[in-house]
Amino acid sequence: MSGIIDFLKSVVGICNTKELSSDLWRLERKNIILQPGKVMELKKPGGAVYLKGRGLSKPILVVHTDGDEYVCFTNKCTHIGGRRLDPVPGQSALRCCSISHSTYDLKGNIISGPAKKKLTRHKVEKTDEGLIIYLDKKI
Ligand code: FES
Repeated sequence: MSGIIDFLKSVVGICNTKELSSDLWRLERKNIILQPGKVMELKKPGGAVYLKGRGLSKPILVVHTDGDEYVCFTNKCTHIGGRRLDPVPGQSALRCCSISHSTYDLKGNIISGPAKKKLTRHKVEKTDEGLIIYLDKKI
C-alpha cells in the first residue's frame, strides 16, 4: 500500500520534508538564522526541514547529515519540473520528489536521474547564535 502512496506522491510531487514554522527562524539581510536545537526535525542526523516565505525568493532546505553537520540548498531540483527535495534515509543523498527522482549527493552533485545541473548549495556556519545560512554565499 505504501508503494502506491509513494508513487502517487511522486506523480504530484509531494515531499516528506516539512516546512519549518516561521516562528523558528529569521532573515537578517541575506542570512537566515535558526536554532537547530529548537527544531525537532533537526535534532537528529538524517532530519531536514525547509523554509519559505518571509522575504525568501526561493525555498531553502536544511539537512542534518549523518556526519553531524548541517548542509543547506535552494530547495529546487534542477530538472525541468523544479520540484522540492527530500533526504534519502540511510544515504548521504537528496532525492527530488518528482516521479523522475533525480538524486544528488550532499555537495549537490548529480548521482542519478534526468537533472543536468548540480544543486545550489549555500554556506552554513554553526555559531553561538545558532545556524547561519548565507544565501549569497554559494559553495
Ligand atoms: S523535477 Fe526533479 S527529476 Fe524532474
